Amino acid sequence: MDDTHTTSVVSASGVMADHLSSTESCHQDVIVIGAGWSGLVCCKSMMEEGLSVVTLETRDNIGGVWCYSDDPNVPSVMKTTQCTSSSTVTEMSDYPMPEEIGMFPHHTDILEYLQAYAKEFDLYPHICLNTTVERTERTEEGWRAFCSSGRVYTSRYLVIATGVVQRPNRDLEDTMLKGFTGTVLHACEIKHPLEEFQGKRLLILGGGETGSDICLDWYNHASVIYWSIPRGQHFFRKYTKVVPWGKPQALDKASSRLMKSIAPYHHSKPGLSWVCKWTSNGSLLAYQGHGIPEWRNNAAFFKFFINKNGKVLDFVDYEHLVPKGAIIHCEGKQVTFVDGTAHEFDLVIMSTGYSVRYPYLPERYSNVGIRDRHKMVFDVEDPTLAFVGLARPIVGSIVTLSELNSRWAAKIFSGKVPLKTLEERKEDVKRDTAFWNDYLKNTSQRIEGLVEGFTYGDDIARHAGVFPNYWSLLKSHPKQWLVAITAPYNSATYRLNEEDKRDQAIATMRSHQKVTLGPVQYMLILFMRLIWFDWWLGKLSSVKFWFQTSPWWKRVRSWRLIRALDYLWTRPKAICFDKTSDDRNEMSARAKVLMRAHLAQLSKPPPPAPTTSATSHPNGTTTSRFSSHPTTTNGIHSHMTNSMRLLPETRTRKQQ
Ligand SMILES: Cc1cc2nc3c(=O)[nH]c(=O)nc-3n(C[C@H](O)[C@H](O)[C@H](O)COP(=O)(O)OP(=O)(O)OC[C@H]3O[C@@H](n4cnc5c(N)ncnc54)[C@H](O)[C@@H]3O)c2cc1C
Ligand SMILES: NC(=O)c1ccc[n+]([C@@H]2O[C@H](COP(=O)([O-])OP(=O)(O)OC[C@H]3O[C@@H](n4cnc5c(N)ncnc54)[C@H](OP(=O)(O)O)[C@@H]3O)[C@@H](O)[C@H]2O)c1
Repeated sequence: MDDTHTTSVVSASGVMADHLSSTESCHQDVIVIGAGWSGLVCCKSMMEEGLSVVTLETRDNIGGVWCYSDDPNVPSVMKTTQCTSSSTVTEMSDYPMPEEIGMFPHHTDILEYLQAYAKEFDLYPHICLNTTVERTERTEEGWRAFCSSGRVYTSRYLVIATGVVQRPNRDLEDTMLKGFTGTVLHACEIKHPLEEFQGKRLLILGGGETGSDICLDWYNHASVIYWSIPRGQHFFRKYTKVVPWGKPQALDKASSRLMKSIAPYHHSKPGLSWVCKWTSNGSLLAYQGHGIPEWRNNAAFFKFFINKNGKVLDFVDYEHLVPKGAIIHCEGKQVTFVDGTAHEFDLVIMSTGYSVRYPYLPERYSNVGIRDRHKMVFDVEDPTLAFVGLARPIVGSIVTLSELNSRWAAKIFSGKVPLKTLEERKEDVKRDTAFWNDYLKNTSQRIEGLVEGFTYGDDIARHAGVFPNYWSLLKSHPKQWLVAITAPYNSATYRLNEEDKRDQAIATMRSHQKVTLGPVQYMLILFMRLIWFDWWLGKLSSVKFWFQTSPWWKRVRSWRLIRALDYLWTRPKAICFDKTSDDRNEMSARAKVLMRAHLAQLSKPPPPAPTTSATSHPNGTTTSRFSSHPTTTNGIHSHMTNSMRLLPETRTRKQQ
């Protein structure tokens, strides 16, 4: 494999698309299909390893789902979408997000970030927009991609980066919802609350993050919202205070190399689970991050996908937002639930996720399950074909795993890292499948690429040869080593072995250490681990569940005395931990949106240049908060303009 890429015909980088006639073919080392986040980072990784690359994209802009579209047929974020993974665990390894972007950026900020990333690493000349790959073909030399434009691209290697949000799952329409005569829509068709359903009765089906976003968006729009989660769901807060005297922090930041050693996630007692239980809902006994019996299931925390938009739990009141389990049957507009109750609805929104399809791949390649690929990246038999962005972490971000996938593929294609033999690859697939099947045994196994992100990421990093050499770092730079093991997980970790990027990586990691775990918390977590705190909590939670679901409890729970006791039980926690978390940070996010609107008024940027050319930069002429060349006093967060640094909201965030 390693010698073939050097013999492939390499065209001059960057100029291929504009100079070709409509049917002329263009040969590269690598074709990447899709210019969403994964495609961009893949394009950059290939270039980093000296490979020539062309990235083919259907849409007229980069960014994939982060490029908002009103068109219900185009998969994109909703109007109000904010990331659920924090910028700490989402940013790229050598292009930190500016601090001013906030902990959970709005989708417009993400698109801006991606456009700045593409500009910074000069990716635009390697991207062909408005180019749908309709069919691909495996040839003796490599791959051929036939595009809607009539052009044919050939390459030695092919990378698929077309995302996991593609084909909406509508199966329940014919099963659970059979017989329902009201309106049924899939969440992909909803970009904002629909006028015609104002004041109507809404049923949301499916407990993922889309379901949460819709609940929050529609809360003041629908007359009542029932939320049916047939197989239960685990929840997580975006922000939380881990200790009463601490400042609110992004909960997914509460992780580090040291933390993983104290309380490994891949074992049964993830160290953070008690923190999450404590901070996510009313009491320590709030199982699975919520303590709502209708949504409980048998999976242990961290062994089931966690919905990180836990703010929605504050809205569950059993009157306006009502939690429900599975649907038993539907008749007319009436829906009967597993608890025996029946209610009428005008609209059902199926927030039931998506499945992955590759209509443009030959059948032999498209009918392979995600887990049947080597580490979910390479086709086992034919490693000239790679997939990036298929692994979905329980906590963390898809895109940092896409980056690791891409870096590994680039190193394999360029021959810098050896590929395992066919036998070894088959063996790995068997072992990995057994591991993840066991890890996720109490889930529906519907999300094929579901993984514990840090475990999977480290595994890929080891294969790509970018797993940090902590021992050598300790010997050469002990202070940097300390930062590296105590800072929150961030993809800069995987740049620590690179001499020229290590200082920037450490500076990035240090910048994320603000407002996160300190020595006191580490000691506390270690202590909790030693006394089996998680185990005891699990037992007490089961008792709580038994109480909550007993028929006699249903009768007494509305008694005034019981309500008073419940209030007293949850009050200390509410005073110490609540209100200061999501609310306060959401306030600052709102201030940011207002400020952005104000700024736009002041600066009145010229309209973007029309972009139909394959090589044009969609945002090239607009005022961007990201300069194309982050200057480097410390290499961090330098792509913000000075005007943004002075914004009041910026100060608010820093003061927190
Ligand atoms: C509302 C929403 C919020 C999300 N929030 C988060 C988050 O907070 N954190 C997180 O990690 N993940 C989040 N995700 C998941 C999201 O999928 C990833 O963040 C990321 O965008 C994946 O990028 P991708 O490039 O793999 O896929 P996509 O963004 O889907 O990009 C795929 C690209 O391939 C193109 N394409 C498809 N078929 C073809 C073809 N035949 N020819 C040419 N081009 C083609 C598409 O046009 C698209 O541009 C969110 C997803 C949604 C829908
Ligand atoms: N704000 C944000 O950042 C944001 C917002 C929206 C989406 N996203 C991302 O976008 C992606 C898609 O999210 P999503 O919420 O649309 O989908 P999802 O996470 O896949 O959730 C789908 C939900 O539907 C249920 N479901 C699906 N098929 C079912 C069936 N046949 N029977 C019973 N239940 C079924 C699932 O249950 P099981 O899990 O038990 O199968 C799950 O509760 C994810 O990567 C997510 O992180 C992010």
